[in-house]
Amino acid sequence: MSLAVIYSRAQIGIDSPEVRVEVHLSGGLPRVAIVGLPETAVRESRDRVRSALLNAGFSFPVSRITISLAPADLPKDGGRFDLAIALGILAASGQIPAGCVAGMEFVAELSLAGELRAVNGVLPTALAADNSGRKLLISVANSSEAALLESSNIYCAENLPEVVAGLTGQKQLPSPAAITKPQAESIQALPDLNEVYGQTHAIRGLTVAAAGKHNLLFIGPPGSGKTLLATRMPGILPQLTKSESLESMAITSITGKPLNIQEFGRPPFQSPHHTSSAVALVGGGSQAQPGEISLAHNGILFLDELPEFSRHVLEVLREPMESGQIMISRAARQATYPARFQFLAAMNPCPCGYSGDPGGQCNCSGEQIARYLQRISGPLLDRIDMQIEVPRLPLKEITNPGKAQTQSADVRTMVEAARQKQQQRQGFANAQLNNQQLKQYCQLHEADTQFLLQACEQLRLSARAFTRVLRLARTIADLEAETDIRSHHLAEAIGYRRLFAQA
Ligand SMILES: Nc1ncnc2c1ncn2[C@@H]1O[C@H](COP(=O)(O)OP(=O)(O)O)[C@@H](O)[C@H]1O
Ligand SMILES: [Mg+2]
Ligand SMILES: [Zn+2]
Repeated sequence: MSLAVIYSRAQIGIDSPEVRVEVHLSGGLPRVAIVGLPETAVRESRDRVRSALLNAGFSFPVSRITISLAPADLPKDGGRFDLAIALGILAASGQIPAGCVAGMEFVAELSLAGELRAVNGVLPTALAADNSGRKLLISVANSSEAALLESSNIYCAENLPEVVAGLTGQKQLPSPAAITKPQAESIQALPDLNEVYGQTHAIRGLTVAAAGKHNLLFIGPPGSGKTLLATRMPGILPQLTKSESLESMAITSITGKPLNIQEFGRPPFQSPHHTSSAVALVGGGSQAQPGEISLAHNGILFLDELPEFSRHVLEVLREPMESGQIMISRAARQATYPARFQFLAAMNPCPCGYSGDPGGQCNCSGEQIARYLQRISGPLLDRIDMQIEVPRLPLKEITNPGKAQTQSADVRTMVEAARQKQQQRQGFANAQLNNQQLKQYCQLHEADTQFLLQACEQLRLSARAFTRVLRLARTIADLEAETDIRSHHLAEAIGYRRLFAQA
């Protein structure tokens, strides 16, 4: 009898490798075998495909049907191969012309009635299919996500008969963009800095952090506005490029969470609660799903009340903070997800929160405070370029604010200009400058080198802190559009490193 080959795509981590679905009909006792070590879900798909074909008015061949999904060693779960299997059976049994599936890929689950259902991770799949040069057919239910790609090589359909009509030229199938209605509700305004009174030092710190993608920790008593300030970060960040945004949204797509198309181009801002588990934070579970750090890729990971996170959770953050990615190993599979995020955190200075606060009464002992601070390990602190004290505002400054407040839009303009300088000079943000590049891009005048060495000596800053100060100073100079780093840039940078001077 006959053989048909249909292409589909699996989903592993952020990758979406090609899967070849071969369907072979032969004589012998009628039975269906699926080879290629598929998991339970693929075996279930055999039953769905049978019902879908029958209910959509096609016949299910009464012969021996062998279905192979290759390569065999890929984990293949979910119903994403249903449509490819169904079309393979139709082609192999001559119900559709074999040539009509050439140059195409199919990724959709089937309902028992023959409707095309959405799959998780359609965005990375669409990206991979688009790069392969084949056309991709998906469910209408996935169209708003796939529309982000603005590709003319993607089509969508409601159900199996519509797919067949499209493939045989009886009907023109729409592209995802053509059927995605622009969402009516307007973009939700981001929280603005103009709601913050005073705290000019902290706002300046936030600006520098945004400009160079530096990691930042706010320290101050309860109610001083740390959370208020941190949640204003998204409003001062530049938009992502199209490819950056697709990359970030592809990760959300894998988790199956609905994408908010309106947020396209906006850097993600993830703020997991301090009760979050290590798996929730870095990813894992039986499906090796991405965690918060990957959802924050190209954006911000904000950990409020930092010492309240379990020590283990904070430990597992260290490696991805260094490498910008996370590899998750589970018994059955392995997945690597990108996780290049900017780290933002807030904490109280002691268990009661009022250590160092002029008005507060802190009763914490020195030992209690030391133990509290030790919850954040040295290696983690080491990766935080900026530590900023946020003192409690005098009440009269809140009730009677004198000066005009800072507008987020103005700050964003400054940040964008400084980022552009970095892009032109080295192609990435200053926070990612390595030691070699620091030498190249952060040369100091002789007098300034002396000044910095002296300051480091006085403050007992380590050699590591020295390079951090240089990176920060580079960003501060970029904010002023200065080519050379000068002593006042250095002085400001040193000010952001004083709290844990030894780190
Ligand atoms: N500088 C400020 N300007 C305006 N409101 C403030 C300021 N600081 C604190 N507040 C008010 O106090 C509340 C608590 O601030 P929050 O950011 O939650 O403090 P923290 O996180 O430091 O404990 C905020 O919701 C805000 O209404
Ligand atoms: Mg808070
Ligand atoms: Zn205290």
